[in-house]
Amino acid sequence: MATMIPAVSWLRACWTLLVCCLLTPGVQGQEFLLRVEPQNPVLPAGGSLLVNCSTDCPSAEQVTLETSLSKELVDNGTGWAAHRVSNVTGNSRILCSGYCNGSQIIGSTGITVYRLPERVELAPLPPWQPVGQNFTLHCQVEGGSPRTNLTVVLLRWEEELSRQPAVEELAEVTATVLAGRGDHGAHFSCRTELDLQLQGLRLLVNTSAPRWLRTFALPVTPPRLVAPRFLEVETSWPVDCTLDGLFPASEAQVHLALGDQVLNATVTNHGDMLTATATATARADQEGAREIICNVTLGGERLEARKNLTVFNGPKIDRAKCPQHLKWKDKTRQVLQCQARGNPSPQLRCLKEGSSQEVPVGIPFLVNVTHNGTYQCQAVSSLGKYTLVVVINIEGELTRGHGAGLASPGGGGVRDRGGRILTSRFLCTARNSHFVPVLLAVLTTLGVVTVVVALTYVFRARKQRGLYHVRQESPSLPLTSMPTEAMREEPSRVE
Ligand SMILES: *[C@@H]1O[C@H](CO)[C@@H](O)[C@H](O)[C@H]1NC(C)=O
Ligand SMILES: *[C@@H]1O[C@H](CO)[C@@H](O)[C@H](O)[C@H]1NC(C)=O
Ligand SMILES: *[C@@H]1O[C@H](CO)[C@@H](O)[C@H](O)[C@H]1NC(C)=O
Ligand SMILES: *[C@@H]1O[C@H](CO)[C@@H](O)[C@H](O)[C@H]1NC(C)=O
Ligand SMILES: *[C@@H]1O[C@H](CO)[C@@H](O)[C@H](O)[C@H]1NC(C)=O
Ligand SMILES: *[C@@H]1O[C@H](CO)[C@@H](O)[C@H](O)[C@H]1NC(C)=O
Repeated sequence: MATMIPAVSWLRACWTLLVCCLLTPGVQGQEFLLRVEPQNPVLPAGGSLLVNCSTDCPSAEQVTLETSLSKELVDNGTGWAAHRVSNVTGNSRILCSGYCNGSQIIGSTGITVYRLPERVELAPLPPWQPVGQNFTLHCQVEGGSPRTNLTVVLLRWEEELSRQPAVEELAEVTATVLAGRGDHGAHFSCRTELDLQLQGLRLLVNTSAPRWLRTFALPVTPPRLVAPRFLEVETSWPVDCTLDGLFPASEAQVHLALGDQVLNATVTNHGDMLTATATATARADQEGAREIICNVTLGGERLEARKNLTVFNGPKIDRAKCPQHLKWKDKTRQVLQCQARGNPSPQLRCLKEGSSQEVPVGIPFLVNVTHNGTYQCQAVSSLGKYTLVVVINIEGELTRGHGAGLASPGGGGVRDRGGRILTSRFLCTARNSHFVPVLLAVLTTLGVVTVVVALTYVFRARKQRGLYHVRQESPSLPLTSMPTEAMREEPSRVE
């Protein structure tokens, strides 16, 4: 006979010894039994119990409960006594004793104490589990007794994946699970079962907090990216990124970018297919070689597609940096300041209208009258061309202009390759429509000069007689002012 009291104290050892000594002789001469009710009770740790000691012996005396547990008498009668035993923290044995016809009679029972586990915990699952790969469920169970009746069950929803006894005080139970698509969003949990059904209790169950699993599948191929190879600044073009074989496609994240510019993508999915579309608009500062990037992220993994793209400007000539009306003096060094920009870099040439005569751009050169004219400045690249008209006026020298112009209107001119007379030192100052009035003016002047000469002659004759006024007035005649005024007009070609 051994007690099951865990904390063995000296007092308890003595008590046990006493029980044994009392019990042995009594069993033989016992006609009446001392009943202990209930028999083999099971109660939770710290619980209490009503114990009834009773006998059918008509002359029963001193019926009582003998225990080291705390007890109190609840009620008694002839041949019985009921006690409440409280704070039962461990398995114990209790004893009832009494006297019948002067002989001691006894009865006993064991008390089984059970405890529910203090902790049942399913370890966190991987945040994303690849489909087709194993993962492990870990369940930890702390406390709980009696251990022999404690079982740990791992569950997917209500499906039992594994059932194992909890042996150690801190028991860890594991199960390997092959992840499938069906496990996406599945609920996993761990359950302990304390089975004391033979002792008349229902199944005592404790369940861990549930864990949800997310599974995913990514194809091995990168996304298919459809994007333009060339994109002009400030223009828009659609960009498409598609990926098939993605599970669950609805949870994939798509990132579309043009260089460092994130594109606002519209994402749609049909089954395992995901499509992201965006409109790419290149900024001026993005000119040059860029990349269109599409990355698809799912389950912490990323698939990326990149495509090279050239952001270009069609060629342009900056009007602000290219004066369109130039007035240069003949025989001076000048620079035609013009700049073209674009990507790829355009070639800039300025050719005279109607001829292939070219003026150097950005390089000093000696100006002469042949440069007079209208030029088509053209910036050309593989992506297009841009034209700006530049007019160059060459101003001849005043002093040299007079005589030559008067002498031969045509002779002082310069012919271009087309055989046209471009300018003459004098006539470059006169427009075609002015030619006749000028000629008339010249002829008139000649006439006036003739008259003046004649008058002078007459006046000289008079001077000899003491009269002389006209000579002083002669410089005021508008003879010489004509060519000077005409010189100031813009030069022009004469056909
Ligand atoms: C104890 O048992 C006796 C005999 O069976 C019974 O008469 C009595 O009522 C019981 N007392 C209690 C409190 O159950
Ligand atoms: C119950 O028993 C334990 C030791 O067995 C003791 O520490 C505790 O104080 C008791 N509680 C009550 C309420 O008597
Ligand atoms: C998964 O684990 C089981 C055993 O638990 C094993 O037979 C199987 O080969 C494993 N599968 C993979 C893909 O690792
Ligand atoms: C509980 O454990 C006890 C002692 O080990 C055993 O006799 C009993 O059969 C177990 N009960 C169940 C339901 O397993
Ligand atoms: C992104 O696109 C959607 C529709 O395509 C539009 O409603 C939204 O305003 C856009 N957001 C930005 C920041 O451009
Ligand atoms: C996707 O690519 C861009 C580069 O454009 C990068 O900044 C971003 O971090 C990437 N996303 C992920 C999840 O790696």
